[in-house]
Amino acid sequence: MKEQLEKIYAAASADLEKASSINDLEEIRAKYLSRKGEFNEIKKNLKNLSNEDKRIVGSLANEITKKLESALKDKHDEFYKKELNEKLQKERIDITLPGKYIPQGKVHPLTSTTNEIVAIFQSLGFSVVPSEQSPEVETEYYNFDMLNVPKDHPARDVQDTFYTEIAKNVVLRSQTSGAQIHAMEGKNPPIRVVAPGRVYRNENINARKNNFFHQIEGLYVDKNITFGDLKGVLNEFIRIYFGSSRPTRFRNSFFPFTEPSAEIDVQCIMCEGKGCRTCSGTGWLEILGAGMVDPNVLKGVGIDPDVYSGFAFGMGVERLAMLKYAVDDIRLFFNNDEKFLKQF
Ligand code: DAH
Repeated sequence: MKEQLEKIYAAASADLEKASSINDLEEIRAKYLSRKGEFNEIKKNLKNLSNEDKRIVGSLANEITKKLESALKDKHDEFYKKELNEKLQKERIDITLPGKYIPQGKVHPLTSTTNEIVAIFQSLGFSVVPSEQSPEVETEYYNFDMLNVPKDHPARDVQDTFYTEIAKNVVLRSQTSGAQIHAMEGKNPPIRVVAPGRVYRNENINARKNNFFHQIEGLYVDKNITFGDLKGVLNEFIRIYFGSSRPTRFRNSFFPFTEPSAEIDVQCIMCEGKGCRTCSGTGWLEILGAGMVDPNVLKGVGIDPDVYSGFAFGMGVERLAMLKYAVDDIRLFFNNDEKFLKQF
């Protein structure tokens, strides 16, 4: 049996010598050292030996299996290192290569301007009318009738307003003022809202006009609202939006849905009031329309004008962005020219 053991050990050693991978080692282990392996077969026959021989052969068998195990382990470590190194070589990455450029998107300047203006009014206590409550596709009823715009008013003319073919009275809204009606209908004052959104007009497109643009409408209705409140709120808005102390002026004007009405100018950003091309030499730029809500409009939505009063205002987002960032052509906002958009 001793010889048999030596022979198996020699065979195992020879196999080990030829092994070239961890896989080979597993096979050797199975062949010699597993429960059904060759050494175990011999150990099973130990019981037929005398006690003395059992001790001798047994300890030899143990010694040989230990040697084989340790040789297997050494080889395993060696192969493991080798295979790992090969894998690392193969998967080597050059960390000095320049990375892939992933361009970063940005908020469009009209969106950021809208957000900025809305945030100012929120800080003054106004809440925002969700877009589904001030639709872009509107009926004449909201866009004109309820705003006290006479049937024969030129703004209704197809040359100004886009009429749709959905139905006779369905238009693309020409102003966000209809949002005032949506905000008041079925509600009780106090109402203090701003409504940002897109409006459409049938204009010839040039540096100052586009056939769609954006407005932000504002409305405050409560008891005892006065023109002083209107002035206070809008002056505060202008102070925050343009920063520091840009002079403003309120000019008498007319809108069908407000009485009295005003247009609000800020001192020209380009020439500091001296008069230039941008302000047509006047030194002033118009940024807002506003006024006290006409009693007829309040009556129309079931709010008693003897109890309540309010002010409303509307401003063009493009205009305010152009003034703040000195942009001289409205079309730049809609051309999707990356060189332009990247500057914001
Ligand atoms: N809707 C007017 C326009 O598009 C702007 C405006 C003027 C809105 C006066 C108002 C307002 O709310 O009171 O020209």
